[in-house]
Amino acid sequence: MRLENQTGIGLKHGGDGEMIIKYKDVVLRAIEENDLELLKEMINDPEIETMTGGYSFPVSTFQQKKWFEGLSSRKGELRLIIETTEHGAIGLVMLTGMDWKNRTTEIHSKITSRNNIRGKGYGTQASEALIRYAFKQLNFHCVYTYSIDYNIASQRVLEKCGFKREGALRERIYKDGKHHNVTVWSILSDELMSKE
Ligand SMILES: CC(C)(COP(=O)(O)OP(=O)(O)OC[C@H]1O[C@@H](n2cnc3c(N)ncnc32)[C@H](O)[C@@H]1OP(=O)(O)O)[C@@H](O)C(=O)NCCC(=O)NCCS
Repeated sequence: MRLENQTGIGLKHGGDGEMIIKYKDVVLRAIEENDLELLKEMINDPEIETMTGGYSFPVSTFQQKKWFEGLSSRKGELRLIIETTEHGAIGLVMLTGMDWKNRTTEIHSKITSRNNIRGKGYGTQASEALIRYAFKQLNFHCVYTYSIDYNIASQRVLEKCGFKREGALRERIYKDGKHHNVTVWSILSDELMSKE
């Protein structure tokens, strides 16, 4: 069954009993066990660790598998693999802190720093796809996120997706020996609808 016309985001059957979100050149799909190598590579990537607000310790293959086994019991979040026909699995996009009463959720994304995959528009397309899914299928009202002030690529992606700057959190993130300012961003459902 194709729902593309009704939703505008291309919610489809992906074969093998999968539901996928298809948008422009990217497909968002559930995490499979054979994605663990990519996920481990990204969680251990020092550049991604520097650019994202959270933090993690070095992760082993064993720990990554344990994390995967616990994934289905995690509540209030949605993690999807970003895939393209040309490159296969290239990253992860997610919603966390899904607040079903206030209809708000935080978005995060990462694209592998390998093989010159970045800068081709996939990060923007994956975020746009998930925002549309959050508004049109899950009925969220506000999608928000944070960017560390030196993360220019992230800020550019958010601008391209139509996020607005809400304000600054002063010296809120500590990375590499220093506290850094963080910008808060959000997009409301009617702002997306008015773009279409
Ligand atoms: C943020 C991220 C997901 C973007 O992925 P991507 O596939 O490269 O994104 P896009 O190609 O759609 O857009 C990137 C934009 O940033 C721009 N950009 C990247 N680095 C830049 C820099 N140093 N200075 C200026 N612009 C820069 C690109 O030119 C492009 O903008 P354009 O289309 O106007 O040319 C990716 O860089 C990433 O995974 N970073 C590490 C994790 C992260 O920061 N996640 C976001 C915070 S949770």
